Amino acid sequence: MKKKLLAALLALTLIISFVPSAFAASEPVSAPSRVMLSWTAEPATTMTITWVDADTVAAGAVRYSTDKSLTDATEVKATAAPNKSAMDEDGARFTATLTGLSPATTYWYSVGSGDNWTAPQSFTTAETTTDNFSFLFLGDIQVTQSAAVDFPAWGKLAEAAYAKNPGLAFALQAGDIVESGIDTNHWAAFLDAATPVFSKIPFFATNGNHESNFLSGKPELYLDTFTFPLNAPKGFAEEFYSFDYGNAHVLVVNSWVFSGEQKLTEAQLDALDAWVALDLAASNATWKIVLTHVPLYPIHSDTTGVKAREHWIDIFQQYGVDLMLVGHQHVYSRLKPMTGGAPDYEDGIVQIMGNSGLKFYDSADETYAERTIYNVSNYEVLSVDGNSLTVQAFDIDGNELDYLALSPRESRGATRAEFVDLLWRSIGSPTATGGEAFSDVPASSPYAAALLWARSVGVVNGIGGNRFDPDSKILPEHIVWILERYENYSS
Ligand SMILES: [Fe+2]
Ligand SMILES: [Fe+2]
Repeated sequence: MKKKLLAALLALTLIISFVPSAFAASEPVSAPSRVMLSWTAEPATTMTITWVDADTVAAGAVRYSTDKSLTDATEVKATAAPNKSAMDEDGARFTATLTGLSPATTYWYSVGSGDNWTAPQSFTTAETTTDNFSFLFLGDIQVTQSAAVDFPAWGKLAEAAYAKNPGLAFALQAGDIVESGIDTNHWAAFLDAATPVFSKIPFFATNGNHESNFLSGKPELYLDTFTFPLNAPKGFAEEFYSFDYGNAHVLVVNSWVFSGEQKLTEAQLDALDAWVALDLAASNATWKIVLTHVPLYPIHSDTTGVKAREHWIDIFQQYGVDLMLVGHQHVYSRLKPMTGGAPDYEDGIVQIMGNSGLKFYDSADETYAERTIYNVSNYEVLSVDGNSLTVQAFDIDGNELDYLALSPRESRGATRAEFVDLLWRSIGSPTATGGEAFSDVPASSPYAAALLWARSVGVVNGIGGNRFDPDSKILPEHIVWILERYENYSS
């Protein structure tokens, strides 16, 4: 059944010629391997581990301890990884989240089952609060020669980055991880190259166009491969997500939705826009960093990037995004801080495009560029120190290619009515069944439908006297209450 489905998908995919390279199934997995870390919950006290094992393994587990010998280790049973598709048949994929860990502590762990366990590996949990840490950014990987050449070369870049910066807290990757999203060989080769570093520090990615070449427009093997936070709008798990580390908020958004491959309606795109705004409006972090594949300011003509900009740039401007980390166009490119379509050193957002693989473009529109580097695989180290953020770009030998220091942008915040409106739109603008309008949110208000619904389901109560106070800036504690009440209502 799986093979027939695979063959049908493959034939159709080839007919519409999304995929240039021949498809080949990867070797079956025979032992626990390809271990990757991420967080799906609090970085100070949890760790999420994802790996593959032989198809015959029904119950995988993680054993972990502060002692490398793993004597008296705690064992946590794995679950099957979420989003597993029929395409992923080279092995069993497991995930487990360790909880109740101590902050700022090094743990040793091993994954497997029965007598088959990986060699102990270590990670260190985050401090409970921190405003002093660094993380890694990596642009497109892909394949330009062969999977056997490109992925190991990329793995060496990742290992060089980690060796030079052993304190890195986590890594962000900008999509186009593989060349052919349907080729399990590419995913296997990527994971083999990634595991040496990213079984030690969490790895987060966004999906690019090269992951998404399925008929559904969904990046199916990307979804199989990773375990990312599950706070996305319904139907977009792991394509959209966010997490906090110290005083930074990282928002990951799938800009490839604007290509049209998923055939989303305007209403669906509006709900995604509202979720993006809601996520940023709900964060008090000093630093707000967006990771996405297609640049909102393309440096080659790109209609998808222009659409992403039309949908999202005003939201990013309003809610204090400091930095956009992007890929897609295969150069290292740092633009001047931009507002709308023009440089703005007072309040612009910086866009940095990385390129960690071997595929290079030899031209770019440099109109708004501050630094452009061609034909060099690069990685970026971002270092937060309170209200300062520095970005350094390096080549594999550790030569510094670029340097930037940033101050945080201000969030203009949402009003009380705007915030409820974002929540309401992000879940598809449900119609209230009955209920009473607040006296200060009349039917003529653009927020009338949102507030009527929110009050009718108990998500908001108002300030007394049948009033809501729609135009005041929303306070952080009220954001927490509203989201908690919505959580209770919807669960
Ligand atoms: Fe790319
Ligand atoms: Fe791309």
